[in-house]
Amino acid sequence: MCGIVGYVGRREAAPLLVQGLRRLEYRGYDSFGIATRDKDLLVLKHKGKISDTVFVSNPLPGGLGIGHTRWATHGVPNDVNAHPHVDCTHNIAVVHNGVIENYSELRKQLTARGHHFSSQTDTEVIPHLIEENYEGDLLEAVRRTVAVLHGSYALLAIAQDDDRVIAAREKSPLVLGIGDGEMLAASDMTPLLEHTERVVFLEDGDIASLSADHYEILRAGIPVTRPVEIVDWGVEDVKKGAFEHYMLKEIYEQPQVFYETVRTATDESIVPLFKKVPGVTVVACGTSYHAGLVFKYLLEGMCSIPVRVELASEFKYFTPPIRDLVVAVTQSGETADTLAALRKAKAHNCMTLAVTNVQGSTVTRIADQTIFTRAGPEIGVAATKSFTAQLAVFMQVANLLCDRELDEVLSRGHLAISEVFLMDLGKAVTLCKDAGLIFFVGRGPFYPVALEGALKMKEISYIPAEGYAAGELKHGPFALLTPETPVVAICTPGNTYDVMISNIKEMKARGAPMVGIGEEGDSELEEIVDVFVPLPRSPLAIRILTTSVVFQLLSYYTAKALEREIDKPRNLAKSVTVE
Ligand code: G6P
Repeated sequence: MCGIVGYVGRREAAPLLVQGLRRLEYRGYDSFGIATRDKDLLVLKHKGKISDTVFVSNPLPGGLGIGHTRWATHGVPNDVNAHPHVDCTHNIAVVHNGVIENYSELRKQLTARGHHFSSQTDTEVIPHLIEENYEGDLLEAVRRTVAVLHGSYALLAIAQDDDRVIAAREKSPLVLGIGDGEMLAASDMTPLLEHTERVVFLEDGDIASLSADHYEILRAGIPVTRPVEIVDWGVEDVKKGAFEHYMLKEIYEQPQVFYETVRTATDESIVPLFKKVPGVTVVACGTSYHAGLVFKYLLEGMCSIPVRVELASEFKYFTPPIRDLVVAVTQSGETADTLAALRKAKAHNCMTLAVTNVQGSTVTRIADQTIFTRAGPEIGVAATKSFTAQLAVFMQVANLLCDRELDEVLSRGHLAISEVFLMDLGKAVTLCKDAGLIFFVGRGPFYPVALEGALKMKEISYIPAEGYAAGELKHGPFALLTPETPVVAICTPGNTYDVMISNIKEMKARGAPMVGIGEEGDSELEEIVDVFVPLPRSPLAIRILTTSVVFQLLSYYTAKALEREIDKPRNLAKSVTVE
């Protein structure tokens, strides 16, 4: 969702801001803009994608500035609604992530007091309020302003006659980059990596003032100290390298990601957490929710620990009466619904555990304990390596809880993922790319894998796709089966093999072209499907990984055949920081 970046220092701000915005593009956006301070306050903002030509033809001078990528919430995407927004005197400029819930009331009051609004955004109340509160000290004016805001914000403000960038955070992420003779601020670490490895994560309620050589953080008007942390990601991690898309790069990073995550998620102190509680409840959204569903099968199957998996957006409003360990799974650590669900769980006195990929993210500060996935920055909007890293954590947790019975299997996971890269998915892609609808089906842990396969397909190819537990297809979806609706079925050895074979025959009999993902040498399956995708013989945990990666590649190559914008699918955001 929206991204913000600010800079003050010895270099020209605009090129750094533009570069920073490019790093934030992955979050999803529909317009962009920057403001710098030179002799005047200069603002440039546009609907659409960041283009160099805009900035080359209008280079904004100045060593201090702020920038924004907007993902529209209040007001359509257009030039006027794009940030930065300015006050009536054009002295103050503001960029903002989040939602100001009381903006409509504030706007009415400000209009009555003579302020003129140009946009439909909630954000525009902020520069007008700062204008009213400004008496030569921008920090103080921002402090007075945020006191009347309700909702969520990460905001940056600059003023024509002030040398500082002022930053404020409430329920929306904001991180400072501490450079040498320069300071930065951004919604996440990716724009900072090129400039510094020293970062400070602001807390809710913090207001920071940044000048070239100094920063200060205030809370309720009193200076506070926050730790300076060293980022463990490098700038190369956010570059695409020789790959055509970030998504493909990230798919290919999975052997390493799986290996690293299994290696590091070995802290046995989590074992008692799981043993002390009547059960486990997972809260998550999107792909992380699907990883949570896989966890359910692992923990219930291997360790007999009951697990419920809840969509975070539902859990927050319909909280079940539980005394469970609540596990929040979130790649970004910033998904608003997941954070809200976790806060709700805490309010119910549940113990909490976060599984996240981002150091310093909000979820790490809410949960009692955190396990980090080691996926590195994920830029493609469609989650791939973060899912595999979550699976690695969950497999390792199940392993630790079950006297390390998966040790040997986990030591081979990365090799098994690499073997998927050698598979030929050409025929399966041909079958999928012209489809009007695709079903993905599986049973047991392959049911969430099928859900995730369908999610990947629809996200990046825009082909409608449904994931189903294979047994459910005859309770309605059968009505949709035609020669134009391929079904991709996972049918590997185990107690549901025979029933899957029957299901596949039933679907085939209704005219659906079948793609069968099965074990190599399975001639029974190979004979009944139209396209057979053989997987090397392997234990269940490994097959969960390999089938997931097959689906990622199937979606990727289908989307590529359709010339979709794979890394930035329309209307989607990488990190959904509003409810
Ligand atoms: C967005 C992303 C998905 C992601 C979901 C949850 O919808 O596009 O890829 O799975 O958010 O994100 P999280 O960061 O909480 O895992």
